Amino acid sequence: MLVMGIESTAHTFGVGIVSDGKIIANEKEMYKIGTEGMIPSKVAEYHINNAPIVVERALKSAGVNLNEIEGIGYACGPGLGPCLQVGELTAKSIATRLGIKIAQVNHPVAHVEVARKHAKMKDPLVLYVSGGNSQILKTVRKPFLHYSVFGETMDIGVGNMLDNFARALKLNPAWGSTVAKTAENGKYVPLPYTVKGTEFSFTGLLTSATKHIGSESARDLCYSIQETAFAMLCEATERVMMLTNAKELCVCGGVGQSTRLKEMLAAMATSHNAKLGFAPNEFNADNGAMIAVVAEDMLRKGMSTKISECSINQRYRIDRAELAW
Ligand code: FE2
Repeated sequence: MLVMGIESTAHTFGVGIVSDGKIIANEKEMYKIGTEGMIPSKVAEYHINNAPIVVERALKSAGVNLNEIEGIGYACGPGLGPCLQVGELTAKSIATRLGIKIAQVNHPVAHVEVARKHAKMKDPLVLYVSGGNSQILKTVRKPFLHYSVFGETMDIGVGNMLDNFARALKLNPAWGSTVAKTAENGKYVPLPYTVKGTEFSFTGLLTSATKHIGSESARDLCYSIQETAFAMLCEATERVMMLTNAKELCVCGGVGQSTRLKEMLAAMATSHNAKLGFAPNEFNADNGAMIAVVAEDMLRKGMSTKISECSINQRYRIDRAELAW
């Protein structure tokens, strides 16, 4: 089945195409976030201007014509309302024009599924870490098959925390990777470490690290904030791993690109005779291919939505989304 997926939950407008489970195109344009952050209406305008260009580019790179597309999916949430609407309208107009089925894809599910499939894992424990999310997930079958949240941040996502700290240091975007580069050869400065069972919190760490700016070097602070945050994620994940007796761990989401985080998780997993899996970085950042991957599974299972009933849900949690396994 030839399926197109559209991503537009935040700064990225992405279009991916899959053919029988194989990703054959993954194109995107990313809004450049300035000091003012993301103003939803401005980002949506950027997506409107880029949507036709990215769709065209994806078709070209897949070597297919638009009328060959047999199904379409779009990320219907969670995300910024005006941005989500651009993806929804793009998908609806293509589906109407071609008379094809449409699937409403949960964005976090897409992050997990693309990584799980790349890692060739059946039903792993998942650490999903991005700007807006930081969650430890495992499937639960009742009342329907879904990823249940076994642990999560009590305030902000780890990516958001690193971005905020990088902005406070006036580092250049992309902030997460700039923090990682600045952290090289740093020394540890003690910072607040907050894990409560399987839950964790990042705002105290951010406030404390920000207060140290000026009295400690940027290198030592980047090193310390990263080590502390990642150690917190490892501790909570390890606890869920022991509770669920999982032997496979999959890390995904934007922060899943971090080499240091993967190194720490791999060491923890190895100590429990477990394996760590992840997708190439291209599929951890927001992208259209991951939406196409899940849309194809959903359409094969008959999980399509009537065009007149398609919508967006800015607060669509992963544990509300039924999996198309
Ligand atoms: Fe994302």
